[in-house]
Amino acid sequence: MRWNTEERWGSIAISLHWLIAALILLVQVPAGLVMLRVEPGALQDTLFNVHKNIGLVVFALALVRLGWRLANPVPALPLDVPGWQVRIARLTHFLLYALIFLLPISGFLYTAFGGFPVPLFMLWDLGQLIPASEPQAEIWQAIHYWSQWALYLVVALHVAGALQHHFVLDDEVLRRMLSSR
Ligand code: HEM
Ligand code: HEM
Repeated sequence: MRWNTEERWGSIAISLHWLIAALILLVQVPAGLVMLRVEPGALQDTLFNVHKNIGLVVFALALVRLGWRLANPVPALPLDVPGWQVRIARLTHFLLYALIFLLPISGFLYTAFGGFPVPLFMLWDLGQLIPASEPQAEIWQAIHYWSQWALYLVVALHVAGALQHHFVLDDEVLRRMLSSR
């Protein structure tokens, strides 16, 4: 089942959820943290290139995901979930969407305004699209830095919610994000 229904996520929404989650948690965050802490050299250059390129891939996937969400029904939470928890879940999901756009955009703008290259698939330097500006670079660097902390906080809340549904409430909420059947 590719499309969402009123009760379940379809396989496309599920694949996009886990692909973006894995790229962020397993590639972007570790690469971002390590690349700033290793000696300048080949390893650091590779990590920067991986971080910038996969970050742009996350941005493209986020656009596809938002489009897919707008074209599909969104499954409702089980009826016995209290209203305040539904509102927290909605707010958390809204913030997660905002972050999967803000992180790549701020990373790109910091890099480009800083006058550094953004070598898309090692073919085009997207950084050249924007003229260097030190004050702008500083603003976007700070936004990129602080949105990583917002990400840790909101993802922790999000994962805690998912685990509570699975292990405490024993409902379908986590299972239906794992399989469309
Ligand atoms: C989902 C996307 C992204 C995530 C989750 C992410 C996350 C991070 C993290 C955790 C750091 C380390 C911050 C620190 O310890 O100070 C970082 C640094 C950095 N990121 Fe990203 N990033 C993303 C996308 C991008 C993109 C698309 C670019 C550029 C095209 C980029 C460029 C950079 C740069 C240049 C740094 C070093 C910042 C500095 O020198 O202070 N990031 N990122
Ligand atoms: C181990 C980590 C994760 C788990 C266990 C998890 C689990 C879930 C579950 C069960 C849902 C469905 C909620 C429902 O049916 O109402 C969901 C939705 C969602 N997740 Fe995650 N998630 C994880 C990581 C992430 C990450 C890293 C992000 C993005 C940075 C993310 C973004 C979202 C968004 C935006 C939704 C709402 C989908 C929509 O309304 O279109 N998740 N997640």
